[in-house]
Amino acid sequence: MAGTLRRLVRFAGAAVAVSTIGLSFVPSAVAADNGDPQTQIVGGTRASISQYPWTVFLTNTSGFQFCGGTLVSKTKVVTAAHCVKGTAASAVRVVSGREDKQSTAGTVTNVSKVWVHPSYTTATAGYDVAVLTLANAVNSAVLPLATPQDTALYAAGTNSTVLGWGTTSSGGSASRYLLKVDVPVTSDATCKTAYPQYSNTSMVCAGIPAGGKDSCQGDSGGPMVAGGKLIGVVSWGRGCALPNYPGVYARVAPYHAVLTAQINS
Ligand code: ARG
Repeated sequence: MAGTLRRLVRFAGAAVAVSTIGLSFVPSAVAADNGDPQTQIVGGTRASISQYPWTVFLTNTSGFQFCGGTLVSKTKVVTAAHCVKGTAASAVRVVSGREDKQSTAGTVTNVSKVWVHPSYTTATAGYDVAVLTLANAVNSAVLPLATPQDTALYAAGTNSTVLGWGTTSSGGSASRYLLKVDVPVTSDATCKTAYPQYSNTSMVCAGIPAGGKDSCQGDSGGPMVAGGKLIGVVSWGRGCALPNYPGVYARVAPYHAVLTAQINS
């Protein structure tokens, strides 16, 4: 298993940290799409890039998609720290305006700087946020960040939308097309029961008790949206879409100031 992960990580070309704990929150261990048009993020549906124009994906220099991201200004992308920590800016491309990974639609943009939250160590410890600076401005609409005033957006039961091109089941194949899934924000108590590592100062959870709807491997770094704002960044979870194990997202509001400083720099 570890050997496989190392191979896949090498193939991905991104120096993502590989965890050996049971929580599968990192490897971009994603294969080609299986071609089944019914497959989903996990339990989601196709999403139109024109409706979610700020949703981007990250590739290595070979074009392999390993994470997602959100365009928050014409030259800045918010993603997960675990997607890009230890990765040189020159090794990352940002693809915008492309719903179908096998098309050439949209724009591929070089990255000039990778900023990783300085306190980040591992996703389950929080601080799983990073900002990429683009070498060229991108002509797509941007998504605003949730602010510390947006407490209502984090209330249990708030409907959120999560987007990505990741796997459509735990250990399955990545999606060729952009997918989305609607999941309610989970209460702190529920998330803490599932995950002792959960902290509401750095994370937010979403999912339904029955499971079946979730983000999954390869969706990391991508947007969790509510109220027209970026409230979370796909971060980690136990498997994908398991009953009583919601997905865990980096909580954006607490990082609003530090992210904004990077976005405006
Ligand atoms: N860490 C994964 C990635 O690198 C995302 C995992 C999300 N897991 C979940 N059950 N929501 O793509």
